[in-house]
Amino acid sequence: MVSLRFILCCLLVGSSYATIVSHDGRAITIDGHRRVLLSGSIHYPRSTPEMWPDLIKKSKEGGLDAIETYVFWNAHEPTRRQYDFSGKLDLIRFLKTIKDEGLYGVLRIGPYACAEWNYGGFPVWLHNIPGMVFRTTNKAFMDEMQNFTTMIVDMVKKEKLFASQGGPIILAQIENEYGNVMGPYGEAGKTYIKWCANMAQTLDVGVPWIMCQQNDAPQPMLNTCNGFYCDNFKPNNPNTPKMWTENWTGWFKQWGGKNPHRTTEDVAYSVAKFFQRGGTFNNYYMYHGGTNFDRTAGGPYITTSYDYDAPLDEYGNLNQPKYGHLKKLHDVLHSMEKTLTYGNISTIDFGKSASATIYTTGEGSSCFFGNGNENSDAKISFQGKSYVVPAWSVTILPDCKTEAYNTAKITTQISMMVKKPNEAEDDPSTLKWSWRPENMDDFLLKGKGESTKTQLVDQKVVSNDQSDYLWYMTTVKFRKRDLVLGKNMTLRINSTAHVLHAFVNGKHIGNQHAENGKFHYVFEKDAKFKSGRNVISLLSITVGLQNYGSFFESVPTGITGPISIIGRNSDETIVKDLSAHKWSYKTGLNGFENQLFRTESPSKWSAESVPLNRSMTWYKATFKAPFGNDPVVVDLLGLGKGTAWVNGNNIGRYWPAFISSGDGCSVKCNYRGAYHAEKCLTGCGEPTQRWYHVPRSFLNAGDNTLVLFEEMGGNPSLVNFQTTRVGSVCANVYEKNVIELSCDRKPISAIKFASFGNPNGNCGSFEKGTCEEINNAVDILTQECVGKEKCSIDVSTEKFGAPDCGGAARRLAIEAIC
Ligand code: GAL
Repeated sequence: MVSLRFILCCLLVGSSYATIVSHDGRAITIDGHRRVLLSGSIHYPRSTPEMWPDLIKKSKEGGLDAIETYVFWNAHEPTRRQYDFSGKLDLIRFLKTIKDEGLYGVLRIGPYACAEWNYGGFPVWLHNIPGMVFRTTNKAFMDEMQNFTTMIVDMVKKEKLFASQGGPIILAQIENEYGNVMGPYGEAGKTYIKWCANMAQTLDVGVPWIMCQQNDAPQPMLNTCNGFYCDNFKPNNPNTPKMWTENWTGWFKQWGGKNPHRTTEDVAYSVAKFFQRGGTFNNYYMYHGGTNFDRTAGGPYITTSYDYDAPLDEYGNLNQPKYGHLKKLHDVLHSMEKTLTYGNISTIDFGKSASATIYTTGEGSSCFFGNGNENSDAKISFQGKSYVVPAWSVTILPDCKTEAYNTAKITTQISMMVKKPNEAEDDPSTLKWSWRPENMDDFLLKGKGESTKTQLVDQKVVSNDQSDYLWYMTTVKFRKRDLVLGKNMTLRINSTAHVLHAFVNGKHIGNQHAENGKFHYVFEKDAKFKSGRNVISLLSITVGLQNYGSFFESVPTGITGPISIIGRNSDETIVKDLSAHKWSYKTGLNGFENQLFRTESPSKWSAESVPLNRSMTWYKATFKAPFGNDPVVVDLLGLGKGTAWVNGNNIGRYWPAFISSGDGCSVKCNYRGAYHAEKCLTGCGEPTQRWYHVPRSFLNAGDNTLVLFEEMGGNPSLVNFQTTRVGSVCANVYEKNVIELSCDRKPISAIKFASFGNPNGNCGSFEKGTCEEINNAVDILTQECVGKEKCSIDVSTEKFGAPDCGGAARRLAIEAIC
């Protein structure tokens, strides 16, 4: 029995590709066939290995051919020449999971990633090598870049994962969007990009190399496009295929920011337009965004959630209708693969941004009708038939006669996600807390660190990014009659600390963080100094290092000064500059060093008088894992800012106290017109991030431990664990369509609303219109769907009757409870 299973497993797992990849002007050619390729980005460390098979399977079911990922240098080489490929960093396992699912891979080695990842994916030790300048003709940099790139290529080759070896990887990327930032590097930048191309070529991977956003990409590099729209893109070499490495499905979020949404209609429109205009490879960035665990979030100020409004949400659930509407588009595009990649192209311009593109081969033709007008529908007459193309949409007709797909007509269900209390707990909203203070005595009272300098030093240089925390400490002695001493004294700090806490003689005088994207600010607070010795202790906290821009590696971090004590008396202001004082430095906090977050930590915790709103405080509680396998989140509402661990696993930084501004959200979101990151925002005036993902693999069946380190002061009494799942599903579709309803592997329990005619409202607030079905839609749907995991409904007058809606097309609106 065992051996039979073994044989079966290995027959399946062992499937390999006999793939030879090349390209011609029209497409990527695999095994001699020109392909229409749909791909999606999933970054392996933004989920756990246990999640990978499901994410990749869902990607395949969503109609993707390939998975694209960056490789994250700083995660793999945290210390020079010491490598880590364990757990979430098991790149080879991730690539093999892609292979097992029969998908292709696109490997963006970079090694610069950007990706809202800490320091763009560069290790901070790299910055601290003398004479280092990133991403230019700089020997120290080029040597390290070559070392890492070669190592990754060798690892992948050893496992025979390049398509040229029969593996899944069909494309590799060197650098990333260098063209967008190369101006300031001058000639050295141009030489560098040639060197990159040359270096990549010598690695002999046997598949094409891409460089995105690189207009001067040296041959044979393929220059590709990134953006919200790439239909106008032309590669620098007209004999290379038109490829889109990053079609942004939404956008990322920053602390203090709002939730970005890019509509399904607009994503579909951008893809259809791209293929209408000769595109052949489209990659969604992101297809699954996931979570910035630990200290991986970039920045500054990228949130722990990297949901991105992607087709698969942060937890791996289908984000409907985005996932389903795009799947249908992929199916239609795949059905036209031959005509799209071999056909002759002709276009008809109808004016007012309406056009038809016809792809013709000897076997037949396929058509796209595009309407780029934001306001009005286009009436198109083509080969004796007339068609209406809604504003800002593309219609696809695989046979040039029948509309198979329109980007603005969604016939996929909308899923409304809900959070459920933890049923494994009797009282899920009350965790029993114990606590302990962070021990800061050495720093607050003695000002004692581990190194000293008579200047203020950039945080990256001192701490090598081993921690978010760096103490800057100095002592100041005043004689009794020192003129600066008096009643009216302040401490003024010119700061680039992402968050700053200041203490004078052990007393917390205040904290400050960057507001509205201003990471260079002045902190000035009242402070009491005495004659004799005074200790100033400043805690600088990073919240994700800069990940984008020319020379981004040298953006200052920490306390760069000047720092001064200011004394005012009736007739003068005296400024005492402390910048060139002897400063003592200490990286990290005691509680982190003593690993208080570990379940088996022997340190003492007290369950007595658990404090609220106390800064620099550790909290601990045990809880039971929620039943079932729905994704788990922890609600951290009530807390300030800090870090959370579950059973010793760092689930990321939290900062629910950071409330976004109240303006800039739109209740109605119009998909028409070009999308930008400020359009269709939600979550105004709310905590930036309240729920934090706890992957199931972090949990065990018995007692689990949650540890919080609270920096600013918060109230943990509301903290609780929940699961997320589909709560209800809705549809709003025109007649002559088929709509499938599914509660994602759970039965549909009731039909809350159904009306065929001209119903109003949105999912959750549907209302009957002025014309309505003759047959009772609720009854029909109850019979067909309730108790089932899935049901497929033919929206037709035969089924629902033919209400008189004054000649207007009838619609069926449904809300079903899961
Ligand atoms: C691109 C970059 C990606 C990511 C994206 C925004 O410029 O290549 O890595 O940062 O922007 O999400």
